[in-house]
Amino acid sequence: MDNARLVVSELVTNAIEAAGLSEKQPKLSALLTGASLIRLVLEIPADLDALVIEVWDAAPHTPEPRGDVPFDSIRGRGLALVDALAAGWGYRCPKDAPPPWTKVVYALMRFP
Ligand SMILES: Nc1ncnc2c1ncn2[C@@H]1O[C@H](COP(=O)(O)OP(=O)(O)OP(=O)(O)O)[C@@H](O)[C@H]1O
Ligand SMILES: [Mg+2]
Repeated sequence: MDNARLVVSELVTNAIEAAGLSEKQPKLSALLTGASLIRLVLEIPADLDALVIEVWDAAPHTPEPRGDVPFDSIRGRGLALVDALAAGWGYRCPKDAPPPWTKVVYALMRFP
């Protein structure tokens, strides 16, 4: 479960940053319209021996793993970590996403 915690933490942190909530002065309009809301869904489907993690946000840009992280950089490895720990991960922008969300980043954690 420690790995699942780490993956949730990386994906939620990314969503918070993508929503601008980690900035010193988050955009008031985003707060008022709900555009900075983040939705975390944790699910164990009946037919899978796995935990499905979903983090929904409304940020227009998309997760891009960084391939060229300088060795002394303390940032830029979150998705590489997710990739190493999860059985799979990715993102979708479903047309019928529940408002205000537009995008879901997901990861599948298999039970040991
Ligand atoms: N939910 C998201 N919405 C939009 N862009 C995202 C999202 N998640 C990640 N990204 C983009 O993908 C990039 C890489 O994410 P990653 O987590 O690997 O590194 P980081 O967040 O920059 O640094 P670290 O996680 O190591 O602190 C981010 O810098 C960001 O540009
Ligand atoms: Mg990150």
